[in-house]
Amino acid sequence: MHKLLRKKILDLGDLPTHIAIIMDGNGRWAKSRNMPRVAGHVEGVNSVREIVRVCGEIGISHLTLYTFSSENWNRPKKEVLAIMTLLLGTIKKEIKNLHKNNVRLSTIGNLDDLPKNSKQGMLDGVEMTKDNTGLNLILALSYGSRQELLRAFQRIADKILLGEMKQNQISEESFSRELYTVNIPDPDLLIRTGGEHRISNFLLWQSAYTEFYLSDIYWPDFREKQLLESIVDYQSRQRRFGRTDDQVSA
Ligand code: FPP
Repeated sequence: MHKLLRKKILDLGDLPTHIAIIMDGNGRWAKSRNMPRVAGHVEGVNSVREIVRVCGEIGISHLTLYTFSSENWNRPKKEVLAIMTLLLGTIKKEIKNLHKNNVRLSTIGNLDDLPKNSKQGMLDGVEMTKDNTGLNLILALSYGSRQELLRAFQRIADKILLGEMKQNQISEESFSRELYTVNIPDPDLLIRTGGEHRISNFLLWQSAYTEFYLSDIYWPDFREKQLLESIVDYQSRQRRFGRTDDQVSA
């Protein structure tokens, strides 16, 4: 346990309510060790376990993990199958422990794209933990932000056509309610590991005012220390939401 960093975070205060993570670099982590890419995903699960535990312990309310994007289906079949198997196996193995630790599991994305057993495993986990009041662990699965936005436009258009909504009722609030992230606050901190500097179709609407933290560390090496450092960095920032420094400091 990184006691000093944890104490620093508590002293600085103002924790991010919602942390979102683009877990990148599993393949390169494996390649750098002459291992197959899948070995990187397997080790990545150990990072997931540690980051979930630490977020729960320090009192983060929401943690969203970009687990599988809409575009990841284009990877070689073998890798896709390996990730799906790993995902289902991990959820089945960990769900009791998550439940015991008061973690609520939820998902965003198009679960219908998942193999039947993976989808069912997820739904069972969501159902089992739905009344928990601790960390909300949100797995983005077959998630793409453009697809999510199109789905929201479609849902609004349907409501207008059916007379359930008027055109002048389209607002940021009513639009947000049609996204997968309904009832989830926008992320305060978005971490991307693996050295790339892009958003990759993740939470485009929701990250309008999110603070970004880019780390060169590959996901399997991103553990408690790196997470706590990213939070300390976040705590040093001044969030202005379009206002001036003087306005915010006043
Ligand atoms: C990105 O690294 C990682 C993925 C697309 C898969 C992430 C999935 C896991 C870690 C399993 C998650 C399990 C649970 C329970 C949440 P990459 O393959 O794009 O790495 P590269 O950029 O080095 O190729």
